[in-house]
Amino acid sequence: MGIRMPIKVCRDYNEMSRAAAEIVADHIRNNPRGILGLATGSTPEGLYACLVEKYKSGELDFSGIISYNLDEYYPIEPDNEQSYRCFMDRHLFDRVNINKANTFVPDGTAPAPDAFCRAYDEQIKAAGGIGLQLLGVGRNGHIGFNEPADELIGGTHLTELTESTIKANSRFFASADDVPRHAITMGIDNIMNAGGVVLLASGKDKHDALTALLNAPETPHIPVTLLRRHKNLTVLCDEDAYYG
Ligand code: GLP
Repeated sequence: MGIRMPIKVCRDYNEMSRAAAEIVADHIRNNPRGILGLATGSTPEGLYACLVEKYKSGELDFSGIISYNLDEYYPIEPDNEQSYRCFMDRHLFDRVNINKANTFVPDGTAPAPDAFCRAYDEQIKAAGGIGLQLLGVGRNGHIGFNEPADELIGGTHLTELTESTIKANSRFFASADDVPRHAITMGIDNIMNAGGVVLLASGKDKHDALTALLNAPETPHIPVTLLRRHKNLTVLCDEDAYYG
């Protein structure tokens, strides 16, 4: 594959999850009051399970950690099981000693989403910026919910989901009709401004997106390719995603 960037090809999903957890754990140990940018989706579930294990065995302390999540469906109630707030509570926040008041997920009920988005960005900036951002990738190369477009938006914003993402994410809902059509997502500048980015890609479904990140010309039509410009990007993938 073409462009040089730190990439670790793991044998399988579990090995990738463990490797990602080591990076996050190191970051937390070195920055006990650090700010994490967190992601949802199937991909980081294993990573969160490893972090919970590390917490339970006394290796990790989340008490000083602040977190900002990348995205949330809109509209959605926080207690809807498919909300990303619920996902984070279920997989991480309720299982470690993080102070829930320091966990921020975009508000899927915000009555004025634009004002909410500006405030989210200001809050992240005032907190000192994101130290380490975790990312998955959509099959079409979306990151967060930054869908393919002629131009990507820099800050947090309300966005419309593409049909392919609605279809891909419908596996978590009763039917595709139940998937919200919009989402609030951090923008490309939020991601690029993070001190470090760890991108995870697992499974054959992600082969095209990963190949584009590693080989294709940079284009907003495949948002993940823009990450290449990040000065501190680490890619972790499994063999299925790498070899297809
Ligand atoms: C979702 C999320 C993304 C995630 C992607 C891949 O739509 N908004 O943040 O990276 O799709 O999800 P999965 O890991 O389930 O394949």
